[in-house]
Amino acid sequence: MTDRFVMPMPDDFHAHLRQGEPLMQYARQHAGQFGRVLLMPNTMPPIFNVARLTEYRADVERALAAIPDSERFEPLFTFKILPSMLAAEIESFARAGAIAGKYYPSGSTTNAADGPRSFDDVDEVLSTMEESGLVLCIHGENPEVPVFERERAFLPQVERLLARYPHLRIVLEHLSDEESVRFVEQGPANLAATITAHHLLFTVDDMIRDSMNPHLYCKPVLKFARDREALRSAVLSGSKKFFFGSDSAPHPREKKECTAAAPGVYSAPAALPALVELFDSLGSLDALIPFMAEYGAAFYGLAAPSRTITLERAPWQVPQLIDGVVPMCAGKTLAWRIWGRN
Ligand code: DOR
Ligand code: ZN
Repeated sequence: MTDRFVMPMPDDFHAHLRQGEPLMQYARQHAGQFGRVLLMPNTMPPIFNVARLTEYRADVERALAAIPDSERFEPLFTFKILPSMLAAEIESFARAGAIAGKYYPSGSTTNAADGPRSFDDVDEVLSTMEESGLVLCIHGENPEVPVFERERAFLPQVERLLARYPHLRIVLEHLSDEESVRFVEQGPANLAATITAHHLLFTVDDMIRDSMNPHLYCKPVLKFARDREALRSAVLSGSKKFFFGSDSAPHPREKKECTAAAPGVYSAPAALPALVELFDSLGSLDALIPFMAEYGAAFYGLAAPSRTITLERAPWQVPQLIDGVVPMCAGKTLAWRIWGRN
């Protein structure tokens, strides 16, 4: 029985560190267990021009400066694609160091009312991204159909996108259903996907079977056992197209335990130990390394992680509340905990 598991420091290619005061607490959770994190731009106001990107980067850097031992943690930046954007703005994002633009279909999720209605609305943006080598991250849900069908109903749009911009690197974010897994598997090499810990660990029954757990309510919603199986097999298959993005999306407890719960799972504090436990139980601990620490960096054209993190097999009870937010696996005892990093 292995008691220690050493792996390259994982990357998180999709997370929400938010803004204002809580930013520092959320950043601390990430800095402790990830080497790099791709920050989503759905702040208020969103990251929608270079001035806002620069301001947000300064906020993040200020927060990190106050966190001990976070010097080597690297935030990566995105911008939010809006219908009004012009080619020149996209080029300036690339010059300012953003590595991806995020497409949220209008009305699809938190702070997405201002998003484009279709890819046709942002043709100039997308061709400029293709030319500048920026990655397109997509919240792939069609908000006009019932929730469980939203992700697969979006796939025809991605198919048209692939045909129109053959050199654009595209990441379908937080994959949640079997059809999407097949779609990505069969797609060209410039199409990849992130997968979260919560979609690998849970199904909709964990959210609403005996009682209702709003802390597992997210978008896209958790699906069925066959979907979770497809996601697990995709990761275990060793395909380079699937890599980790936590979609850690903290909302204060009172915004979750109320009549109109906000979507989002605060997974960052527990994602790594929970995934080590999952992969270990599936007999595939080795498959965790490329999924969390190789394929994402390779797709984005970034260097391999230079640090390592060590986990030890020792019970760890996830706190009920962290930073005012109920984290994923709150109150559960996980089999592994973080031991140290270098
Ligand atoms: O569950 C989610 N929460 N999905 C998203 O797409 C947005 C996120 C958030 O920002 O809270
Ligand atoms: Zn997200």
